This record gives sequence, C-alpha cells and structure tokens, in this order.
Amino acid sequence: MKQGETEMRIAIIGTGNVGSAIARGLKGKGHDVLLGARNPQTAEVAELVSATDATPMFPAAAAAEAEIIVLALPWGGAETAVKALGPLEDKTVIDCMNPLGMVEGALGLTLGHSNSGGEMVQGWIPGAHVVKTLNQVGAEIMAKNDTLPQRPVMFMAGDDAAAKARVAALLTDLGFAAMDAGDITKARLLEPFGMVWINQALFRGKGRNWAFAAVEG
Ligand SMILES: NC(=O)c1ccc[n+]([C@@H]2O[C@H](COP(=O)([O-])OP(=O)(O)OC[C@H]3O[C@@H](n4cnc5c(N)ncnc54)[C@H](OP(=O)(O)O)[C@@H]3O)[C@@H](O)[C@H]2O)c1
Repeated sequence: MKQGETEMRIAIIGTGNVGSAIARGLKGKGHDVLLGARNPQTAEVAELVSATDATPMFPAAAAAEAEIIVLALPWGGAETAVKALGPLEDKTVIDCMNPLGMVEGALGLTLGHSNSGGEMVQGWIPGAHVVKTLNQVGAEIMAKNDTLPQRPVMFMAGDDAAAKARVAALLTDLGFAAMDAGDITKARLLEPFGMVWINQALFRGKGRNWAFAAVEG
C-alpha cells in the first residue's frame, strides 16, 4: 500500500509525548486525525492542533468517530480511561503503552512471561481488535525518522489480520518497516523489547535518537 493511499480516521487518545508525536508523524499523510484529550481547550492541545491540522475532541467522542484508536496513555489508570471510551466493537485499537512501574526500586515492566499489557487491554475491550505496537522506540522517532540511515523496524502483535494490515499501513506512513510478530500473546515479547530501548536510551546513556532496524540478506 502506498503512503497516503488509504485515508483513515484515527483517534489518538492522550496528547502527551507519544500522542503528539504520532499526530505530528501523520501530518500530511492523508488521514483524518482526531485528538482525544480530556482538556481539549488547553494551550498545549491548541499548539498541537495548529501544528498538525488534527481536530481536538473529548476522548469518547473521538473514539466513537474513528476506525482506528491509538491508546497513548500512562499505564496507571489506563483501564479506567480505556473503558470510558465507550463501545469499541470491531474497531482497530493500537496499544503503544508499556506496563511500566517501579519494580525492585527501578523502572521496569510490572507484567510479563505469562501475561502482557497488550493482552490485558484486549481483555478490557474484547470486541475490539487490539494491536500492540509503537512501544519499541521513543516518541521522537515516531514523529520523525527520515534522517536515520535505515528505515527502523516496528513489530506488531494482534489477533486480527485485517486490523494488522491497517496498522501496517499506518506504520509505513510513520516511516517504519512493519513486521508481524504474531498474535496478541506476542506482546509478551514486544514489551520487554521496548524495555531494551528504554534501558539503552535512559540508563546506558545512548540517548533517544536511534531505533532498531532489521537487516536482511
Ligand atoms: N514517551 C515515550 O517515548 C514512549 C515511547 C513508547 C511508548 N510509550 C508509552 O506510551 C504511553 C504514553 O506515554 P507518554 O510519554 O506520551 O505519556 P505522557 O506524556 O504522560 O502523556 C499521557 C497523556 O495521557 C493523557 N491522559 C492521562 N489520563 C487520561 C485519561 N484518563 N483520559 C484521557 N487522557 C488521559 C494525559 O492527559 P493530561 O495532559 O490531561 O494529563 C496525556 O495527554 C505510556 O504508556 C508509555 O509507556 C512512551
């Protein structure tokens, strides 16, 4: 699918680092972007609107109008916020949240091995098609990555093939090489993989201007 070939209506729930980066990355790609903000009148949201041409709304209103919903929320409180979005039957829901918290005195994953944040989100909204992705790099790389020497890879995990095809098209528009990791249980792999990026970027001094790439022969 070529960039911008299929226009989609996308609701981004949360307008912080990740939500605003995705809105910026999708600017000019032919999509109709709605910003789901609990305070849509703030100066920060107004600035994002003027930078992206997106439409600010309350979260549930944005989710109701969109075919693709991006969850860009802090993990703490996400369950309440997601359930407050209203019915999401048959909608494609992108979960880019990492289930982070303090673990043994350090920032880490609060879930793993036999469960994942992606699976929990799918359990909260069973009628929706949840795709775990966009959790594996920093927000800045989601907004702009065309100065990197290679197209960064972005894995996705979810149960519905049609939803993953739509998400792959969006990832392509955001400059990533989309790679299907399998069903939603593979979020158990993608969330620790996101933690690999966080560890290098934040705790090993690598900084934020890098991403994973897949090199194929
Ligand atoms: N930061 C990164 O580089 C990065 C990269 C990959 C994945 N992630 C993951 O992405 C998620 C978001 O991270 P972030 O850095 O963008 O967080 P952030 O900057 O703190 O932004 C969170 C956004 O969620 C909104 N929000 C919080 N509770 C809400 C609710 N109940 N209803 C509606 N909106 C609500 C906040 O709105 P208010 O302004 O009203 O508080 C804010 O706009 C996290 O789960 C994180 O693990 C982050």
